[in-house]
Amino acid sequence: MKRFLSIIMTCVLVYGLIGCGSAKTAGEDPSSDSERTAASSAESRQPGERKSQEASGAEDVGADNSEPEKIGTKALVVYFSTTGNTKSVAEALAKMQDADLYEIVPEQPYTDEDLNYNDSSSRATAEQNDENARPAISGGIDHMDDYDVVYVGFPIWWGDMPRILLTFFDTYDFSGKMIVPFCTSGSSGISQAVSSIGELEPSATVAEGLRASTSNPEEELTKWLTEIGLAK
Ligand SMILES: Cc1cc2nc3c(=O)[nH]c(=O)nc-3n(C[C@H](O)[C@H](O)[C@H](O)COP(=O)(O)O)c2cc1C
Repeated sequence: MKRFLSIIMTCVLVYGLIGCGSAKTAGEDPSSDSERTAASSAESRQPGERKSQEASGAEDVGADNSEPEKIGTKALVVYFSTTGNTKSVAEALAKMQDADLYEIVPEQPYTDEDLNYNDSSSRATAEQNDENARPAISGGIDHMDDYDVVYVGFPIWWGDMPRILLTFFDTYDFSGKMIVPFCTSGSSGISQAVSSIGELEPSATVAEGLRASTSNPEEELTKWLTEIGLAK
């Protein structure tokens, strides 16, 4: 009887030990479960993607850990145009150079009367005769720092660029940038405007300008861009 009881006790003891062991196996390591959850949520983010604010508990104070945008590799085509001639050249140029496009829009639009160069008291004539005139521009360029080549197009007014271009050059810092002027006109060339820009922006490189004809801008733009080393 004693022997029978000791066999029963031994069985109970062995069963108990096996039971404890199998409970640990079934539950596996609880810490490995949470590790896997964390790993899978990290895997589902793209490189550089931020965790949500709720998940990180962090307050966004403006720090951006995502991949920085490339600075200084983009080109911008800026233009001023009252009757559309310079605009069409600017659009063709922006397309060819894969550049952003920005129109200088006067806060006070020019009417036909304003543009009458036969009238010595018209707005355009008065502005051009006043070297301090700086007609206001509506809106602006948010990220000028992004651009290292800035094409600037305008009509020729009395042999030079319209005064609103001076407002534009006064507004931004062109240090270290390349300014590439182009124009349209009845017949006048761009050389006076190019030297005016050089005087205004001594810290920039001013490229050889182009007086474009609007009839076939692509061909002359390609020739010019090749000559100044900016052809794509
Ligand atoms: C006020 C004014 C002055 C101008 N002065 C000249 C000039 O000195 N020489 C010239 O060849 N064309 C002159 N033009 C003609 C313009 O340069 C030409 O029409 C130009 O292509 C207009 O461009 P847009 O349509 O982009 O404004 C003048 C035009 C205006 C309105």
